[in-house]
Amino acid sequence: FAPATSKLLSSALPSFTQLLATSYPYLFPRLHLARHKASARRFRSFHPTRRPPNIKPKSIHLIRIRIRILLSLIHSTHIITSTIMIRSISIASILLLLAGASCAFQPSAPSTAHRSVTSGKASSSALFEYVPKWKKKETLADSAGDMSDDDKGLMGTIPVIFKQGNETRRTLASPGQPLSFVAAQAGQPIRYGCKKGECGTCECMGNGKWIRPCVESVPDWAPGQELVLNIKELKSKSTSSGKFYSVKSFFMGFYNNFVGMFGFVKQRKAAKKNWEERQEYEDLVKVLAAEKKAARLAREAEEAEKLQLEISAVLKKEAEVAEAQREKLTAKVAEEREAAGVRQIR
Ligand code: FES
Repeated sequence: FAPATSKLLSSALPSFTQLLATSYPYLFPRLHLARHKASARRFRSFHPTRRPPNIKPKSIHLIRIRIRILLSLIHSTHIITSTIMIRSISIASILLLLAGASCAFQPSAPSTAHRSVTSGKASSSALFEYVPKWKKKETLADSAGDMSDDDKGLMGTIPVIFKQGNETRRTLASPGQPLSFVAAQAGQPIRYGCKKGECGTCECMGNGKWIRPCVESVPDWAPGQELVLNIKELKSKSTSSGKFYSVKSFFMGFYNNFVGMFGFVKQRKAAKKNWEERQEYEDLVKVLAAEKKAARLAREAEEAEKLQLEISAVLKKEAEVAEAQREKLTAKVAEEREAAGVRQIR
């Protein structure tokens, strides 16, 4: 449905925007007037001697605009209705096709001979009744009929009572016998899952405690002490091979698709959150890097300043030494000249 919706929106939206654009002076008259004044002012600033064009809607404009609004409305409605109709027709055809396929793949009714074997007699009303190809194995309790427990071979010292809804089954078991075997022997249906004691599908209440019959066994109690098991009720008491094409499977297909879509949306949300977190983290890293860079630059500037000071101190010292040497030399030269003058006079 997503492409259909986007197509519908993309085709209907321009029409709506056009409608909005044409009806805008009437929807927001103040804003329109303000814009009109502003544009007139701008016009006057460029052409001080000319009159600005009147962009206020006149009555003829009004009629034209109303006609355009009406046409846009008709156009949008037409697009929406036609798209919905086309989609509904295609969906209805798909449904019809699927229903036809479902009827075509319905398992054929078994032959009269087969029915007579499985159900004993064939009535005309049960002509198209679905009969699975498998046959449930008879339990000891099923075949025994009204025989006593001893005659059935149900031996044991611990009476085990299975309660499921309004039904109660009694049997006998020996300590250490697996509860699943005891239940199967007594013809008590229990729904199992993993049969390893992990999933909890078979969990039932045994003498006020939750136990898992797939792994539990009959406790080592004193003879005569009863073990009462409250079993969860089952919708169907036999495992059916089921039909591949059925009304349920048809709806389950839709359900699975919906679940898949929901999963995608969930994943997308999680991915978005993840992306936002990453962005935040990257921003933080950027800030930290900028701080680090600023600190490094400040340190370098400080070091450069220190170096500059040291260099200027050295230069100053050298200049002082040179000055002292120059003064010394000047004094020496003056002394020598003076001595030379004295010698000439002599
Ligand atoms: S079947 Fe899974 S816990 Fe018993």
